[in-house]
Amino acid sequence: MNQSPLTESEEKQLITKAEAARKKAYAPYSQFQVGAALLTHQGKIFTGCNVENASYGLTMCAERNAIATAIAEEGADNLTIKAIAIANNRHIPCSPCGACRQVIAEFSTDASLIFLSREGYQTRSLSQLLPQEFSLSDIF
Ligand code: THU
Repeated sequence: MNQSPLTESEEKQLITKAEAARKKAYAPYSQFQVGAALLTHQGKIFTGCNVENASYGLTMCAERNAIATAIAEEGADNLTIKAIAIANNRHIPCSPCGACRQVIAEFSTDASLIFLSREGYQTRSLSQLLPQEFSLSDIF
């Protein structure tokens, strides 16, 4: 497993793929297109975009769709997330919503999250954004 820090080349690839994914977003209600590209510790990249619905609450975020793609392709058994880049069509740095943070935490002890903006990008670790994720391990 590749536990090394994110390389410049990995960062660049994630950014390009997040931008490509957000162009495929289905966001006719909010007009806010989001794309996410996630890198696994095994070195594979999977993407997702937001998919909205006329019944607004059924909308799926780009980050969770990227995770669903990764699981559909690779299975969940060995899935660990090294990094996720997130892009949007307003080019503002936008961190994942709380629901996505919790779902990312299921597959990562400390993923790097990269938010693209017009000025470049910002990086945060998942533990900075979600210090105490919900976990059943203390319960069972
Ligand atoms: N959205 C995402 O795709 N990811 C997030 O982390 C937050 C919000 C989407 C959902 C909706 O389609 C649009 O952005 C506006 O909320």
